Amino acid sequence: METIVLKRHDSIKRVKTVGEVRKQIKKWKREGFTIGLVPTMGFLHEGHESLIKRAAEENDKVVVSVFVNPTQFGENEDLGSYPRDIKRDEVLCKKAGANLIFNPEPSEMYYKDASTVVNVNGLTEGLCGARRPVHFGGVCLVVSKLFNIVTPDRAYFGEKDAQQLAVIKKMVKDLNFDIEIVGCPIVREFDGLAKSSRNTYLSFEERKAASILNESLILAKKALNLGERNVGRIKDMINEKLSSEILTRIDYIEIVDSLSLEPVQSISSSILVAIAVYIGRTRLIDNFTFKV
Ligand code: PAJ
Repeated sequence: METIVLKRHDSIKRVKTVGEVRKQIKKWKREGFTIGLVPTMGFLHEGHESLIKRAAEENDKVVVSVFVNPTQFGENEDLGSYPRDIKRDEVLCKKAGANLIFNPEPSEMYYKDASTVVNVNGLTEGLCGARRPVHFGGVCLVVSKLFNIVTPDRAYFGEKDAQQLAVIKKMVKDLNFDIEIVGCPIVREFDGLAKSSRNTYLSFEERKAASILNESLILAKKALNLGERNVGRIKDMINEKLSSEILTRIDYIEIVDSLSLEPVQSISSSILVAIAVYIGRTRLIDNFTFKV
């Protein structure tokens, strides 16, 4: 006879303090439960949902952190206007199978006299790191704090932020965090635009234009599949496609080694094709990996 074990996701707790998280985690660990962590900045969508569902499949308990982390925003970036809706996030978390939401205030996460920095050199120098100099320092600081607070067995990150995923994996290795980092595929809208909390900034016209990011990458992927190996020609192809849309302003088009994130001169191993494009005032990113 087959026994079907149904997981029940009927209760979810939302807490605001490190102490409350630690208390719950201690209890779960005493009971022998494994723990998955999904760090987010909230305003959750199906991309986040896919991470939470995966975490719920692979762990007994799932913690989702919802924290718009001030240290990863540059001075002229969108910290103040970043969308927030914790009630809606709570519904999505519950539906996706999360058990605990950690939703701290900035003052709970950062002591006034905090002076420790966490920087992963090398991997953070190109791509988004070159344009957003404080960004990855802030990401690494908050993620390492979350790792120490939640002490998960596994933590889930999206391939949409490919550089972030690579940086976190390196940080975990360098600092001996005993945590498995799980990368999850990009979830897209019906027209191929990668889901992002920042898509809500787009006007109707801009939203229509934004599908050009993925379209340009599809062209590049097709060319690679047909045997194109010239880096310059692939970049030109993406450039031309993106430039055909009047609302775009290209921030970067890069082809890098998928592990070192160093620019490649020729395509011979596993590469990451990554773009960052402004649509109006909104900066969007997208990427794909290609293995020869
Ligand atoms: P946020 O942008 O909220 O994203 C949280 C996680 O969801 C990240 O790992 C991101 O890569 C993943 N994600 C976002 N959109 C996705 C999509 N369309 N498909 C798949 N995964 C997607 O990334 C951050 O927050 C922050 O930098 C954080 C890691 C929480 C640190 O503050």
